[in-house]
This record gives sequence, C-alpha cells and structure tokens, in this order.
Amino acid sequence: MPKKASLGTIPNPADTLKYGAYLVNAAACMDCHTQNVKGEMIAGMEFAGGREFRIGNNTVRSANITPDKETGIGNWTADAFVQRFKTFSDREKAAKVSPTDPQTIMPWYNFSGIKESDLRAMFAYIKTLKPVKNTVVKFTANSFVKSE
Ligand code: HEC
Repeated sequence: MPKKASLGTIPNPADTLKYGAYLVNAAACMDCHTQNVKGEMIAGMEFAGGREFRIGNNTVRSANITPDKETGIGNWTADAFVQRFKTFSDREKAAKVSPTDPQTIMPWYNFSGIKESDLRAMFAYIKTLKPVKNTVVKFTANSFVKSE
C-alpha cells in the first residue's frame, strides 16, 4: 500500500548529499528497487533490485542501483546516469515494443523531466549507498504463459 510521504523541509541543494537523499526518497526509488516479502522490504537489500513486477505475460525486475561494481551501477559515471534518464525526454522516440520485447515499469518518461542538477545530486547520494552484490535478470518474457 502506498504510504503518505513524510518529506519535511527541502534541504538546501548546496548540501548535495542531503538534497540527493531527499530527492531519492521523494521519488520512491527504494520502493521499486528493493525486494520485499509480503510488503516488507528485505533488510540489507535496499536498492539492490530484483523486485518483480508483472507486465502482461512477462516479468520485469528492478535493477540493482547500489554502487556494486559488478552487479550494480558502481561503474557508472554521473554523466552516464544523467544520459540514461534524459534519453527518454523525447516521447517521439519511444520504441515500439512487441509483446515479448523487454518492457519496464521504471517511470523513465516521468523522470526524464528531472533537472540535470537534481539527477546529479541523486547520483551522488546513490554512490554513498552500501554496495550489494545481487545479479538481476531484468526481463523474462512469457513467464506467465502456461506451457501445455
Ligand atoms: C515503479 C517502479 C520503479 C521506480 C519508482 C523506480 N524504478 Fe528504477 N527501475 C525499475 C525497473 C523495473 C528497472 C529495470 C528495467 C529498466 O531498466 O527499465 C529499473 C531500472 C533503473 C535503472 C537502470 C539500471 C541499469 O542497470 O540499467 C536505474 C539507473 C534506475 N532504475 C534508477 C532509479 C532511480 C534513481 C529511481 C528514483 C528516482 C528509480 N529508479 C525509481 C523500477 C523503478
């Protein structure tokens, strides 16, 4: 169940990490990017991805966005992070996907409007998270189709 956000006062953007933490919290990145059992996030797996969502007959799993270099985004640069979000700012370029192509519920289009300086603050904060090793298979097509 969605919880009412308790955001308090907005930190000064000059305080990059505090401000980045505020934004990441406001955008509920952790909710989607943490596996849960019966609605309770698994402790120690915060931001490590693998939470499963069903889209049609397919399963999509959130990415590991901890700074783990092998299984997370520890090798990403701030520029790559910004670029990944900004790729989606032009809706005209939206890919046409067939039912078995990878799909996602990551709100890329909504988030593509986030200011670049805000994305950088979010990235700076994410880089301070504990790296967690967790390999995620992001997409499995037809996982809900019964084979007979
Ligand atoms: C509604 C659920 C949802 C929310 C909210 C969400 N994500 Fe995601 N995110 C996903 C899923 C699912 C994927 C994997 C599929 C994909 O790459 O689109 C993903 C992928 C990503 C990736 C790509 C990682 C890679 O290895 O390619 C990044 C970076 C990311 N999310 C960051 C964030 C940040 C930062 C926030 C908060 C601003 C956020 N996400 C909020 C569901 C979500």
